[in-house]
Amino acid sequence: MTKAIHPIAGTLALVTILTFWISTTVSELFSPLATIVMVKTLIPWGFFVLIPALMAAGGSGFTLSKKRPGNGLIDAKRKRMPFIAGNGILILIPAALFLAFKARAGEFDAAFYGVQIVELVAGAVNITLLGLNMRDGLRLKSRSPHLSSQRRSL
Ligand code: HEM
Repeated sequence: MTKAIHPIAGTLALVTILTFWISTTVSELFSPLATIVMVKTLIPWGFFVLIPALMAAGGSGFTLSKKRPGNGLIDAKRKRMPFIAGNGILILIPAALFLAFKARAGEFDAAFYGVQIVELVAGAVNITLLGLNMRDGLRLKSRSPHLSSQRRSL
């Protein structure tokens, strides 16, 4: 069960944050103000998907890693999690709430664009870290003892 939940939750977290990032850049570069206000208003609601997905991916990942101690790829994945969580809690959530408030008030001023740039950079960092965790997860899967014993019997 944990094994099934883990890649689904991790992929959902990555896809959610990628959607925030792409919809923000595309709307702010090419769309009318009404679309920007809509995107900025919807993003905080997306945290109701992103946060549980990250918690499920992290929790199931730690459970799975107990079966495979002393693995460098797992250690690298584990070390990335505090940065992903810290970045989310300290930068992404407050920035998204601030930007939603400013957009709904129609205040597209220097503070809006300053915080928007910080949010995009922090978002890109989390997309990279989640992407690296996915890459290492897929490497772990291909090196899993279960799979290699299956390959041996072929
Ligand atoms: C939240 C970011 C994470 C993402 C996006 C992610 C993604 C993935 C993916 C796609 C797989 C391949 C599983 C499969 O296809 O069957 C995987 C496997 C794995 N992940 Fe993660 N993971 C994350 C976090 C973690 C953490 C924090 C740990 C542990 C500290 C962890 C430990 C593992 C282990 C041990 C496997 C191998 C499972 C097996 O035995 O097949 N992951 N991960």
